[in-house]
Amino acid sequence: MTLTFRKLHPHFVAEVSPIALRQVTDPETLLEIRAGMDEHALLVFRNQHFTDEEHLAFAQRLDGRLHTKTGISAFQKSRLGNEALADVSNLNASGEVYQADDRKRMYGLGNRLWHADASFQDPPGRYSMLLARVVPPVNADTEYADMRAAYDALTPEMKGRLEGLRVHHSIAHSREILGFEFSEEEQDILKGAIQPLVRTLPRTGRKSLYIAAHASKIIDWPIPEGRLLLLDLIEHATQPEFVYRHSWRVGDLVIYDNRATMHRARPYADTTYRRELRRVTTLDVDHAIEQARAVHH
Ligand code: OGA
Ligand code: MN
Repeated sequence: MTLTFRKLHPHFVAEVSPIALRQVTDPETLLEIRAGMDEHALLVFRNQHFTDEEHLAFAQRLDGRLHTKTGISAFQKSRLGNEALADVSNLNASGEVYQADDRKRMYGLGNRLWHADASFQDPPGRYSMLLARVVPPVNADTEYADMRAAYDALTPEMKGRLEGLRVHHSIAHSREILGFEFSEEEQDILKGAIQPLVRTLPRTGRKSLYIAAHASKIIDWPIPEGRLLLLDLIEHATQPEFVYRHSWRVGDLVIYDNRATMHRARPYADTTYRRELRRVTTLDVDHAIEQARAVHH
């Protein structure tokens, strides 16, 4: 099948011609989608009516192994019964909208900070596939920013300064920004992971800034200096020219490359209206190879 990609933003993002992904199994079409991801970093597919099983199965066909630790399990213990299927909703275990002071709601508010999924894990997340099941009658959008275009727009001096830098990412950091404190039981996830600040994307060779609210310090730098540089880079990378805003329709499947984009949820009246999205994220298993190459460079 030949797909067409209609660009929705000057730098990245394309809407793909109608196709029922739950039926897509042939290698040629899967290759076309991967090539589309390499070029556009974010693809929008409309009218995908997946069951949870079809959603999980499609993600594996497209990109291999699934991530099961994209959040803190105590908070994400989903209603959905599968660790690989993230419940991105404002609903509690009984399916009701969270009360304003619910701790799980507070934790979920972390999605409103600019981030890349599971950057605090090794391996981190590669593709995330976010599906809209229930959309509120008010705007409850997600913004995405192109980290390749943001990298390209840096001055040569800044690119030189960033070369070889490594960053510690921890979910504790992004949640501490919001005033959270964590108990010891989640140490495994809280210890975080070390990631390169600049990534080279394997198939295109393009470089991207790998930053997120989870990024807590630059290795070997004094913490304040590192944090200030990270804040400057996030500010640079999320200027309007690099940002696409997605307004959800039921059945939208947005696939984004976490190596090449950051994203954040925008606020809405979440204690009033239901919003139900589901996310499957793949493991960035090439990441270890890319890291090793960078170290031996
Ligand atoms: C996510 C996420 C944003 C949103 O699912 O990883 O950040 O708008 N979602 O719900
Ligand atoms: Mn996310």
